[in-house]
Amino acid sequence: MKPAILVHGGAGRIWKDDHAIACAKGCLKAARLGYELLEEGRTALDAVEAAAVVLEDDPNFNAGKGSALTIDGDIELDAMLMAGTGLRCGGVAALRSFRNPIRVARRVMEESPHVLLSGEGAARFAREQGLEPCPAAELVTERALKRWHKEREAGWPRRPGTIGAVAIDRDGQLAVATSTGGISGKYPGRIGDTPLVGCGTYADASTGAASATGYGEPIARVVMAKHACDRIAMGDSAQLAAESAVAALAAIGGEGGIIVVDREGQLGLAFNSERMSRAAVDADGQESSGFEAIPNVYNR
Ligand code: GLY
Repeated sequence: MKPAILVHGGAGRIWKDDHAIACAKGCLKAARLGYELLEEGRTALDAVEAAAVVLEDDPNFNAGKGSALTIDGDIELDAMLMAGTGLRCGGVAALRSFRNPIRVARRVMEESPHVLLSGEGAARFAREQGLEPCPAAELVTERALKRWHKEREAGWPRRPGTIGAVAIDRDGQLAVATSTGGISGKYPGRIGDTPLVGCGTYADASTGAASATGYGEPIARVVMAKHACDRIAMGDSAQLAAESAVAALAAIGGEGGIIVVDREGQLGLAFNSERMSRAAVDADGQESSGFEAIPNVYNR
């Protein structure tokens, strides 16, 4: 099987071109690293985790460092990782003070009997696993703080942002990782779509893997990532499955996007927001990246 990887840096209104360009570049860096690992024979799970870490560490994205702030000005992180084989998954919600929540999510999957840990319990588990917490202030960027002040004045328009990666490895195994600071100005304790199985994140060996981005509540209500995988089961290509998931989101007034890889290694991407940053290395080793709205990036 030829490996492939597709990553996103969030759907929404990426207002300034220089920021949009930086996001597309960050996505390409993450996709390249993930693809290198796949070429070395590492698993899809390793590739999506590594790609997600690159994006969590990049302050341009709303995940890890650079995350959106709650209404109280804190950072609470959501993340989930899922393997198509055996429907294995692990997630964290409202986690504070860890640079790479996706690493904690992987430990939840591999080292705990649970699917999702939240808040202080998630932080305690991460520490017990030997993962180092960081000062909360280390994750807060000037950009996020500025935005928090601006949005407070504007009555909390609550803008989203997420990062995600889907991949298939040489053995044909599928995996997905999604991570976010959630929507800006969210109520403390709010959990979005990202760490909920099937909503922001889903992988099933018999269909595909999908990672969603956008305002989380509508995404959760349409169980968007599972929707895309179910469409593959019904015979859709990865691209058509992505479009169908976005149509379901749009039907209830939601705005966002989704990336998909199917079990053949075909990629799909769709969004109804103004822009969505993303990058891929496909099964032919072809690189692509961008942020503009274009109708169909991949074969239908
Ligand atoms: N999709 C990210 C969130 O709403 O939390």
